[in-house]
Amino acid sequence: MNEQKRILLIIGGSIAAYKILELIRLCKKAGIAVTPILTRGGEQFVTPLSVAGLAGEKAYTHLFDLTDEAEMGHIQLSRIADLVVVAPATADLMAKMAAGLADDLATTALLATDKPVLVAPAMNVRMWQHPATQRNLATLKHDGALVTGPDDGDMACGEYGPGRMSEPQAILDAIQRFYGEDSLGNTHPEKSGPLAGRKVVITAGPTYEPIDPVRYIANRSSGKQGYALAEAAIALGAEVALISGPVGLPIPPGVELINVETARDMLKAVEGELPCDIAIFCAAVADWRTQTDAKEKMKKDGSGKPPVLNLCENPDILKTVGHMKKGRPSLVVGFAAETENVEANARKKLGIKNADIIIANDVSEAGGVMGGRDNTVHLVQVKNVESWDKMSKQQVAVRLMGRFAAMLLAKA
Ligand code: C5P
Repeated sequence: MNEQKRILLIIGGSIAAYKILELIRLCKKAGIAVTPILTRGGEQFVTPLSVAGLAGEKAYTHLFDLTDEAEMGHIQLSRIADLVVVAPATADLMAKMAAGLADDLATTALLATDKPVLVAPAMNVRMWQHPATQRNLATLKHDGALVTGPDDGDMACGEYGPGRMSEPQAILDAIQRFYGEDSLGNTHPEKSGPLAGRKVVITAGPTYEPIDPVRYIANRSSGKQGYALAEAAIALGAEVALISGPVGLPIPPGVELINVETARDMLKAVEGELPCDIAIFCAAVADWRTQTDAKEKMKKDGSGKPPVLNLCENPDILKTVGHMKKGRPSLVVGFAAETENVEANARKKLGIKNADIIIANDVSEAGGVMGGRDNTVHLVQVKNVESWDKMSKQQVAVRLMGRFAAMLLAKA
């Protein structure tokens, strides 16, 4: 790496580009020099003049600018930084990167660089969810790109969902993680934070219990709270194994993701990740599965009588781990999604499952928690209950992980 930390910042053409001016300011404040390149689209949203003014450096724009080629060729430009940051990374820019196109200065630099690349996507929710974009994302990750965001939220186009570019501070955090620093700019050769050297196992999302090859029993769960917890645990320096049922969420950077479908597979995956320091059971595990899993698709037999599904109970993963005699994690956290008597039911679960703490939330329809952005939680322990105001699932996750870290350290 160069002595002066330096990023090459490629600014794509999205309304989110206005946030880049703040990112440049934050980078400079953190002692990171910024060499900016604007795509043609990027130039429509922020001017090269403002970008250059804040960066204190020339803002590069066109590939065939002969003066630039004389001053600094595009190959050289692609190599001068420690890290290439693409923000906002539009759907188009991601597609070009994935395909290896090089038809302007930005994409040529991206193809020519020998440095790691950090991508901060920004686009409309449907564009983000489109299989083509998800394919390109998978290709970029496979090629080694680091990805931050996108966040959930209101979009400039009036829709709601994933697609908002990460906030400038979150992008700076990702840049500093690349440099092995925390947000205060302190360098740590290893991971830093109160959970450095600790392992956290998190279950998230629903489980699918097959009835036959095309049908399944499942619980409603978006997985958002569990994924946000995984991200928050990474930010505190933990090693994180996220064991997830089927959800369509982006993988939080730095997390080891283990995909499962059934409760039995989820239990096996959890056991495979033990020992750990903190185990958080956020998944909405299906309580029952069918006794037999039909190998062929069940058909209507014309009698008008529906088939009878004989159910049996699934293993209770939290209860199994909570009651472990040997190798029980120091902190076992359960969640309780209730539609009534939230605290009383949570208190019962605390005992039955031998958890150290239960995070209870009201998922009755009126609350809009299920699949929504916000959550209202109650922290239920043997001796006390603490209720928090409604906040975003991300905020809940950050505050909860801070609390779990403190509880773990108090036990040590
Ligand atoms: O019993 P109930 O499903 O309400 O308990 C919720 C808590 O137990 C959650 O933490 C959930 O992840 C966990 N659980 C589990 N395995 C099950 C059922 C629930 O780990 N089979």
